[in-house]
Amino acid sequence: MSNIQFQDEQGVRIITINRPDKRNALNLEMYARLTEYLIQGESDNGINAFLLKGEGDCFTSGNDVADFLKNSDLGQNHPTVRFLFTLLDLTKPLVAAVAGPAVGIGTTLLLHCDLVYADNTAKFQLPFVNLALVPEAGASLLLPRLVGQTKASELLLLGEPFDAQSALSMGLINDLLPSDELMSHAMSQSIKLAKKPPQALRASRRLIRGDSELIREQMQKELEEFAVRLQSDEAKAQFNAFLSR
Ligand code: COA
Repeated sequence: MSNIQFQDEQGVRIITINRPDKRNALNLEMYARLTEYLIQGESDNGINAFLLKGEGDCFTSGNDVADFLKNSDLGQNHPTVRFLFTLLDLTKPLVAAVAGPAVGIGTTLLLHCDLVYADNTAKFQLPFVNLALVPEAGASLLLPRLVGQTKASELLLLGEPFDAQSALSMGLINDLLPSDELMSHAMSQSIKLAKKPPQALRASRRLIRGDSELIREQMQKELEEFAVRLQSDEAKAQFNAFLSR
């Protein structure tokens, strides 16, 4: 069974990251499935919104660290790269429900979401520099835009975890909910979006998100740097240290 599942309900495609033994870490097959289910949903007239969540008590622990050691060619066909640009090119709204850790891409992908809900167990972290890497998913542009350069530098350079209350006060999430209401609330907000006039919703989303070419260029620059960092001895040492804990 794939570690990514989807289910369509009331115009919403609910996509679940389900790899609990590795804290929902994303491997290449999972990126490929995420991309596939998003692209399918984009062309399905019955789907008007996406809802992304993690199975159990974790959103995602981010990129599978073991994969960092294996795949340094970050060309356009790399599954992670395809997923990132699919996120950027989405035309239908994306909602996220975050419980537990949301590490690395688990946090940066939220910058591409339209609505984000979390509970008190949510823990965000951008540990790229700690791993001797650089930010991805346009975070080096989108995060300063959202929280200001000073705060973005703190989050991206120190890479320390922060909780849902901090995420709420900096505008990374829309609302903080009790754990037993998180999914039902995220779902009811997604259904509301799915019921809006679709063309107006998509046009408004495009206007709100602004110039995607600028973001695309920054994502490309990040990936070029990321590929170089992946090969570095300092990065390999960090990956091996994590994997041999
Ligand atoms: N890639 C690969 N494996 C991962 C992983 C990741 N990103 N995150 C967790 N795992 C694995 C652990 O190696 C462990 O595997 P094992 O049982 O075979 O030893 C298992 O998942 C459970 O992880 P553990 O660290 O024991 O869980 P935890 O609840 O104590 O902590 C996290 C959860 C997410 C805080 C912690 O696992 C973590 O920091 N993960 C790394 C995150 C990271 O650096 N991601 C890359 C960002 S760019």
